[in-house]
Amino acid sequence: MAEFTLPKNSKVQKGKTFPATGAANAKTFSIYRWDPDTGENPRMDHFEIDLDKCGPMVLDALVKIKNEVDTTLTFRRSCREGICGSCAMNIDGTNTLACLKPIADVKGDIRINPLPHMPVVKDLVPDLSHAYAQYRSIEPWLQSDTPAPPDGERRQSKEERAKMDGMWECILCFCCTTSCPSYWWNSDRYLGPATLLAAYRWIADSRDERTGERLDALQDPFKLYRCHTIMNCTQTCPKGLNPAKAIGEIKTLMLERQG
Ligand code: SF4
Ligand code: SF4
Ligand code: FES
Repeated sequence: MAEFTLPKNSKVQKGKTFPATGAANAKTFSIYRWDPDTGENPRMDHFEIDLDKCGPMVLDALVKIKNEVDTTLTFRRSCREGICGSCAMNIDGTNTLACLKPIADVKGDIRINPLPHMPVVKDLVPDLSHAYAQYRSIEPWLQSDTPAPPDGERRQSKEERAKMDGMWECILCFCCTTSCPSYWWNSDRYLGPATLLAAYRWIADSRDERTGERLDALQDPFKLYRCHTIMNCTQTCPKGLNPAKAIGEIKTLMLERQG
């Protein structure tokens, strides 16, 4: 019989509260915590932060909490510029990058959870192994039988180069993939928007000579066609990209080659 309640050890429990004593401009950050080594249930901890002594972005608050309040708080970050994609998490109900999300954009308390529907390694760190394996499966590198010119430069016209705009900017944060309901339910076989955007980036590259093989590999009821154009991916992308459009372009090419 189907079970509609969470297993006991998955229920998120009330956590600790860390007050910002004496702060004139305090804001509460409610953060998902889970440590696999303790055997305890996940919990939401509440950290009050004095905004007068904190940088403007959510990542600034997380770093402040880790440095000054609880060194065990675990999250990924690197560039703090929206370039590396590592600080992707769910902030105030939306998948986004903590380094690009202004604290001032959220009214009231800020809820922070890991990217949804991914196994959690610890606290805000999702296990992206499966998503990366799917990305690897589309062979995201230039493939060509034609030898490169003597100077090594495979040139493109401005128009050919422009076809890759809106795709090369992807930072593989997986905000889109983890917002996609089709991916939530079929991630074992559906590639998801981030990987499909990457697939189209190589299909659209005039220098690549594996277009037919790349389309063959996607000709599958699940890998590509589980996208039902729900558009969550495009709405959530913190880089303003449009994976749903890229998926549509792949589907169009599939139809065109059927004649
Ligand atoms: S448009 Fe496709 S990939 Fe994007 S959220 Fe919807 S189903 Fe997922
Ligand atoms: S398309 Fe946008 S949301 Fe998706 S992985 Fe790339 S940058 Fe992140
Ligand atoms: S820290 Fe690199 S994208 Fe946020």
